[in-house]
Amino acid sequence: MSNRTDPDKTLDDERLAHFLERIDRGDKIEADDWMPDDYRNQLIKLISMHGVSEIMGALPEKEWVPKAPTLRRKLAIMAKVQDEMGHGQLLLRVVEDLLAPLGKSREDLLQDLFSGRLKFHNVFHMEAPTWADAGVIAWLVDGAAIITQTMSLETSYAPYARALQRICAEEKFHAQHGESIVLELAEGTPAQRQMLQDAVTRWWPSLLMFFGPPEGGTVSSNQLLNMRYKIRSQTNEELRQAFFNKYVNRIYHLGLTLPDDTIRYDEAEDVWHYRQPDWDRFVQIVRGNGPCSAQRLRLRKTSYEEAQWVRDAMLAAPRAEYVAGGSL
Ligand SMILES: [Fe+2]
Ligand SMILES: [Fe+2]
Repeated sequence: MSNRTDPDKTLDDERLAHFLERIDRGDKIEADDWMPDDYRNQLIKLISMHGVSEIMGALPEKEWVPKAPTLRRKLAIMAKVQDEMGHGQLLLRVVEDLLAPLGKSREDLLQDLFSGRLKFHNVFHMEAPTWADAGVIAWLVDGAAIITQTMSLETSYAPYARALQRICAEEKFHAQHGESIVLELAEGTPAQRQMLQDAVTRWWPSLLMFFGPPEGGTVSSNQLLNMRYKIRSQTNEELRQAFFNKYVNRIYHLGLTLPDDTIRYDEAEDVWHYRQPDWDRFVQIVRGNGPCSAQRLRLRKTSYEEAQWVRDAMLAAPRAEYVAGGSL
């Protein structure tokens, strides 16, 4: 034993070996279990990005609440926006427990979002100029999210898996709400069909980017680490292929086209071939240089500042007369 030379290191090695054994046999890790620093850091990165993306994702759709074409659609899109904010809150709560031992808080995370250090998902930097965009976002962006999040239901970190069970159930309603809008427009007037086609064309590159860059023969060290720790089980490209399997033919069956004449399914290889989106543009978008990045961050920041009085009121010390009065 080498603990005479470096007892801390030996203890850490033993803990790591035990942790990896737990991961290998499919144990789920809880917030107060011992975990290696890189496991904690990977989770913080993943779940905080997911959490703030839910909140930022509510913004493009929120724009359509006052302009929804009927009362029924207005109620449905309002409910979806409310769900997305709830998903964000659930996930930030999960991240808070991971941050606490590092002396960081939810407030720090939000400040990281406002300063651009914490990125949010590429799709939520984009414009939603028509009602068809609201439909395509709910059908295909939420559809893409369901594919990623269904994989993550099996994640080794139990609090994330529990939050995702509720989130995935609600995302399915969102996708159905989107599909219903899309079907109505697909069966509508020539102008409505054109509006839908334009939205699909506009969103296609963002949908390809949604899953992140392909591995190109080598899986990134981040992805490898996440797979070793069973935080995730599929690569970006595997998830994108699952998206093609589910949606490409559905899009064609609506009589719509995709802005990619190379897309085809190769039966022998069991793989979809497609034209890569502009990955340099993807990097620019997630760095905050997308068409709506600055405007949406400004809106989120203003709304956070204007709601400060609510947090102050909720967190204020209870007034003496209520404490003295005992329970309600
Ligand atoms: Fe969501
Ligand atoms: Fe959703």
